[in-house]
Amino acid sequence: MSIKKAEFITSSSVYTQCPPPERPEIAFIGRSNVGKSSLINMLTGRKKLAKVSGKPGKTQLINHFLIDENWFLVDLPGYGWAKVSKTDRSKWGEMIHDYLTERKNLINVFVLIDTRLDPQPVDTEFIQWLGEKGIPFALIFTKADKQSKNKNQSSMAKYRRVLKSQWETLPPMVLTSSETGEGKDDLTDYINYCLQV
Ligand code: GTP
Ligand code: MG
Repeated sequence: MSIKKAEFITSSSVYTQCPPPERPEIAFIGRSNVGKSSLINMLTGRKKLAKVSGKPGKTQLINHFLIDENWFLVDLPGYGWAKVSKTDRSKWGEMIHDYLTERKNLINVFVLIDTRLDPQPVDTEFIQWLGEKGIPFALIFTKADKQSKNKNQSSMAKYRRVLKSQWETLPPMVLTSSETGEGKDDLTDYINYCLQV
């Protein structure tokens, strides 16, 4: 079932300020500019729900959206943005680390990966960390419209190879484009699955 209603609830700078953890929650994370906010807008069918920008670092806080009066969708600030000062980066680290490890109602994390890039340490290290912490996650490949189908498939295969060398089971992977709507149904189905288990 696709998303019918999406409302912005609040922005928080620490997880303790987040809305009461009374509903299941799914968070979108990934490097700056990977397309988190765009994907949230594509998924909810609301062009301006989450703020999108060509300039990395647009999303700075933990943003909660209430979906279908049933679950929270969370837009997180991106990691690996070189122009952010070291102090800001460690603030980011602390905020996200605490949110991901302490948020009781977090049922899944979507890690967004730019499909055009070869596996990057900043992403694979983050994935490794999620795995070690036992935080459930899926990989969402973004901007599929920017290159050929073959290239998209070979990018995903590269990730599978890297992850297979570290883990016995692979996380779910979904190929998406916020531009064309590719992957919307798969992502919606996967969210519904997460909400049911
Ligand atoms: P931060 O909030 O800075 O961490 O970035 P973000 O991950 O939320 O990225 P955002 O959605 O703001 O998108 C960054 C840029 O990529 C914008 O210029 C978008 O228009 C563009 N973009 C995002 N998704 C897609 C996509 O699927 N296809 C194409 N062609 N462009 C995209
Ligand atoms: Mg954003």
